[in-house]
Amino acid sequence: MSEYTYINPKFEKEINEFSKKTLVPELTLNYDIKVRDFVNTGNASADIKLTLKRLGVSSPVLRRVAISSYEAEINITAHSKGGNIICNVYPEFVHIQFKDKGPGLKDIEQAMIPGWSTADDAVREMGFGAGLGLPNIKKNSDYLHIVSAENSPTLVEILIFYIEK
Ligand SMILES: Nc1ncnc2c1ncn2[C@@H]1O[C@H](COP(=O)(O)OP(=O)(O)OP(=O)(O)O)[C@@H](O)[C@H]1O
Ligand SMILES: [Mg+2]
Repeated sequence: MSEYTYINPKFEKEINEFSKKTLVPELTLNYDIKVRDFVNTGNASADIKLTLKRLGVSSPVLRRVAISSYEAEINITAHSKGGNIICNVYPEFVHIQFKDKGPGLKDIEQAMIPGWSTADDAVREMGFGAGLGLPNIKKNSDYLHIVSAENSPTLVEILIFYIEK
């Protein structure tokens, strides 16, 4: 089992507190992501963005949430056997978990390198496979945590705060 963590230093205190406490979310959204469903993939991310927009989250932050969740959603569709997304909305941030049924990542550090991709022809034909999804999630999230291993499920979780520092 390997693990990758990125923390935006500006939110270090809040992120450490989050991992210690069990907070009750204001709202929870749940989505199933089916294997290789390129017709519907992206809908969960669009719904998360719309929900946060209705709650008054600013456009620059909505954009960051949309990019991060879209990339993680596409990765479940393109690289896994399917999974689900759980989005927990809190008063000051959103926490989104992307869980899939494997086959997992052998080397997460390698997967984080811009341009590194194992996308097959079918995925490339859909316009994906530049190897930029995970680096983009890191760039747009305040917290990124990935847990995976070969022949195992993958968990990708992110936190994004509504007020930028
Ligand atoms: N959920 C996942 N399960 C298994 N492997 C994954 C998963 N997400 C990413 N990967 C692996 O990490 C690599 C890099 O992912 P990343 O999102 O950065 O690029 P990509 O999906 O290949 O291309 P792009 O996102 O630019 O369309 C993937 O090619 C794949 O090998
Ligand atoms: Mg990707």
